[in-house]
Amino acid sequence: RQIVVSGVRPTGNLHLGNYFGALRNYVKMQNEYDCYFFIADLHSLTTHPDTKELKENVLHVASEYMACGLDPNKVVLYCQSDLPQTTELYLFLNMMAYKGELEKTTTFKDKVRLQPENVNAGLLTYPVLMAADIMIHRAQLVPVGKDQEQHLEMTRTFANRFNHRYGDVFPEPRAFNFGEQLLKVPSLDGAGKMSKSENQYATIYLSDDDDLIRKKIMKAKTDSGPTEPNSLKPDYIENVFNLMKLVSQQDIIDKFEADYDNCNIRYGDLKKQLAEDMVNYIAPIRQKARDIRANEAELNIILKVGAQKAAESADKTISAVREAIGLKYF
Ligand code: TYM
Repeated sequence: RQIVVSGVRPTGNLHLGNYFGALRNYVKMQNEYDCYFFIADLHSLTTHPDTKELKENVLHVASEYMACGLDPNKVVLYCQSDLPQTTELYLFLNMMAYKGELEKTTTFKDKVRLQPENVNAGLLTYPVLMAADIMIHRAQLVPVGKDQEQHLEMTRTFANRFNHRYGDVFPEPRAFNFGEQLLKVPSLDGAGKMSKSENQYATIYLSDDDDLIRKKIMKAKTDSGPTEPNSLKPDYIENVFNLMKLVSQQDIIDKFEADYDNCNIRYGDLKKQLAEDMVNYIAPIRQKARDIRANEAELNIILKVGAQKAAESADKTISAVREAIGLKYF
């Protein structure tokens, strides 16, 4: 069986982008692959040094993982900081990564702009730690959204450099989605991807209650509709249709597409439909996450057992790595 690794940073509530770009694929993969899914708490320290809410966020993400359908009996579910083997591999991989290429990473350049007062070395080597997460289990497939594609390319580069220098230890991992393309879930204001952004109304969280979901969708950017039949959709309209494709039934989507092509679309109706379909999709996940979060003792056991299972796989890799590098003296 192929090995799968992926993770999410516990920097706040999970949103639709996390769900459709990543989590939904985790759930689909759990029966056919050997899956390791973790909560990337160390990565979150690069941007969120204040750890007051970290524990709550870690437990929240773990609950949402399971509410989305991840079964801890089928996958290994753990917290990144509970697997110190990852940080050891990170050190070795730092010697495979050049300063120039790290500085050119898109996410690093974004962070320099967003937090000029805290351009720490952890931000620069963020992709190296991510490569270590993946390579510690010698994974082949990594379910992620489009925004992580460059990090996967870098992981392959580091893996190849290691293999070239010290002998074959690592496979080449690749970003994975069940569709052809990696997904980028749009933001509701029509400005780029959905993220934990400043504009709270542009992002739908899995923890949002029904009315808030409705309110956000009704506020999504639209216009007065097309004036020419079969015209091209502006980005923000395409976005709304794309969201619909994620949660609505095909015949309903077809109807609105035809209305658009015939210039008699009513965006108010479309958004009402989308809002109801979205509520029906998210409400059960939200409820389940709350129930799971309420049983903290059980969550703790799941994460502890997960860390133990993850360590079995990680120890084998570290042993092979030390041997390949020549760090076994006696
Ligand atoms: P993070 O926490 O930013 O996001 C978690 C996952 O959600 C996906 N995602 C999206 N997909 C589609 N459309 C969107 N609008 C959208 N927003 C977020 C992300 O692509 C990601 O898959 N660096 C990672 C965490 C990480 C990791 C790893 C992932 C650390 N180590 C090893 C995989 C393997 C991150 O910041 O994800």
